[in-house]
Amino acid sequence: MAYTIAFSGKGGTGKSTIAALCVRYLTEELNKSTLAVDADPNSCLGLELGIDVKESISDVREDIIKKKMDFPVGMSKENYVDYCIEESIVESKSFDLLTMGRPEGPKCYCYVNNLLRRYLDKAATTYPFVVIDNEAGMEHLSRRTTNDVDMLLIVAEPTMVGVNTINRISGITDELPIKIKRKAVLLNRVHNGKVNETIKKKITDEYGLEILEQLPFNDGITELSTDAKPMQLLPKDNEIFKRIGSMIDKLIAGN
Ligand SMILES: Nc1ncnc2c1ncn2[C@@H]1O[C@H](COP(=O)(O)OP(=O)(O)OP(=O)(O)O)[C@@H](O)[C@H]1O
Ligand SMILES: [Mg+2]
Repeated sequence: MAYTIAFSGKGGTGKSTIAALCVRYLTEELNKSTLAVDADPNSCLGLELGIDVKESISDVREDIIKKKMDFPVGMSKENYVDYCIEESIVESKSFDLLTMGRPEGPKCYCYVNNLLRRYLDKAATTYPFVVIDNEAGMEHLSRRTTNDVDMLLIVAEPTMVGVNTINRISGITDELPIKIKRKAVLLNRVHNGKVNETIKKKITDEYGLEILEQLPFNDGITELSTDAKPMQLLPKDNEIFKRIGSMIDKLIAGN
């Protein structure tokens, strides 16, 4: 079964950036076949990975509606949908990318989520690693696109607002019937690499959560994102890439 890492957190905290760097480390450095999943309707994991996404699961849904019941002879609707989703996956040299896209209208989320959920269950048996980048907020938890994950990384900035969001997200994962083996906090854009003790204590002592990493603010990342360049171009000796690498190594080793 795949080891699945999912990212959650407030808007703009660095989920997609870090997810892309995790995919890069798993594939480039560890040579592990990885399915990258962009479960954010405002898709951007493709950009961070330097991939041009042409089709999403939402597009597959639109196509199926247009075709109505006109499926190829001898193919059930279910098989046809799976076939279309597989066709929408972008295969790069080292990883595959599945993009959810934006369903047209709120009611369509349900169907697209179910397609994504079903595909993720299947992917868990074929890829050793799955990395899911989610939209900001908590909808992905209530919609259960985040389920059966080995590690839920709650990304936050080390501020009181960030800390309150961590608590809300963590609380929801306890209330919902979703399976999350382990959850931890990843503090990002830490200025001068130092986190205020009160903030640390709130996370660890009051909320009982572990802080897995504290990534500093990094100019290399700013330079790439200013030019809309993918995280694939971040030099391998960049501190953030190295620290994400050590973090993944520890997770794989079960630490
Ligand atoms: N450690 C860092 N140092 C400097 N800039 C960073 C760092 N991490 C992320 N950023 C920048 O912060 C911005 C937001 O990052 P990103 O898009 O990854 O956040 P997100 O949580 O995925 O946002 P959204 O909720 O909108 O999907 C980007 O411009 C990114 O380059
Ligand atoms: Mg994002």
